[in-house]
Amino acid sequence: MEQFRYQENELICEGTKLQDIAEQFGTPLYVYSRQSIRDHTRWIEQVFRETNHLSCYAIKANGNREILRVLAQEGIGADAGSIGELHLALEAGFPPEKITFSGVGKRDDEIEFALRQNIHSLNVESEEEVNVISEIAERIWMKARILLRVNFDIETPTHKYTSTGHKHTKFGIEREKAVEVAKWASTVPGIELRGIHSHIGSQITDAETFLQAAREVVELVNELRANGLEISELNFGGGFGVQYHDYVSHPLLPNDGEQADSGVTTVKLLESVLPVLRESKCRILIQPGRSIIAHAGILLTKVLYTKQSGDKIFVIVDAGMNDLIRPSLYQSYHQIVPLQLSDSNHVLVDVVGPLCETGDFFAHDRMMPDVKRGDYLAILCTGAYGFVLSSNYNGRQRPAELMVDGSECLLIKNRETINQL
Ligand SMILES: Cc1ncc(COP(=O)(O)O)c(C=O)c1O
Repeated sequence: MEQFRYQENELICEGTKLQDIAEQFGTPLYVYSRQSIRDHTRWIEQVFRETNHLSCYAIKANGNREILRVLAQEGIGADAGSIGELHLALEAGFPPEKITFSGVGKRDDEIEFALRQNIHSLNVESEEEVNVISEIAERIWMKARILLRVNFDIETPTHKYTSTGHKHTKFGIEREKAVEVAKWASTVPGIELRGIHSHIGSQITDAETFLQAAREVVELVNELRANGLEISELNFGGGFGVQYHDYVSHPLLPNDGEQADSGVTTVKLLESVLPVLRESKCRILIQPGRSIIAHAGILLTKVLYTKQSGDKIFVIVDAGMNDLIRPSLYQSYHQIVPLQLSDSNHVLVDVVGPLCETGDFFAHDRMMPDVKRGDYLAILCTGAYGFVLSSNYNGRQRPAELMVDGSECLLIKNRETINQL
């Protein structure tokens, strides 16, 4: 069961009315459900219950310290994309042997820190990086456990900014060179080559694309073994898409109709791909971000003004693109709903923020319940790539973050003050 839902005409989180939270803590405000974080983690772990595996939450999706503590307590691992995220992971209590380090441009100091912490492995993206890691490892009398990130040239049906698996992106080592590079890397003195890494992109809702990637990775693992290499681990990355349309439903809400993400669940995507991955007889690692945290968070905002301009109606809210940039950056869809529903009157509106940019919007030409100044709205499924991508643009303080745990509300990040600008 999802933790954000309508109870009669009120949107609630784990049984707490979001209207009360908005009135008490102010807006814009990110609200997370602790139970939802746990549920999404456990649903994924359940798929892998009979598989030797390690799930490493991709911290980049949401690095709030309290959220990381909840995930560490669930017993999963973490994938860091910078030294900052490595620190966050360690402070939150993830054991080093459950931490991976990914990224196409790791600095020397970041590599050295990761090695000294003795983390599980580094996902490596070029021959030059192999050499740098080896030199650093030898200097500090260590051997670096690495997985080679391979670019399998797979077209992914997602936004081009979040597609990472085809040839003309900066990610990974070309498939054509992978066998030679792996053979060479296994002879480099400071290196222990453990396996292959692949991450083809984000918000992929199509099982067939994942299946194609899985078949490619397993084929490469087999080829490497045929060349005498010992390959024990396969890291399949993240990217498992989630449902953004029609996340909550109610007789008084308009329906989004059939969409690409309709009915998508991470469990279904993983269940379709796992039998192929298991053929490799490797330990399977994954790095899910969005699929754990997107549905566990929402952004609360207040209607400041409504106005008609030509044939358009604008709903101007107190959150802006600096608080949630996904619609502006990726033209992403987020369902937007009032916290209290009263009538079935629907109007076609643009929901926009207060910043001096035409790109500052949350929805264009969206059918929504009629709202007025002072009403509160929830922008749904914003737990992933929401707060972490926020900024101080236009001199705006970043929003507060709050976690609901049953009937308790815990402020897990204070709203920034003017002095912090
Ligand atoms: C290497 C790597 N792993 C995992 C992820 C997490 O992706 P997602 O949040 O789509 O699961 C990302 C995100 O871009 C990534 O770059």
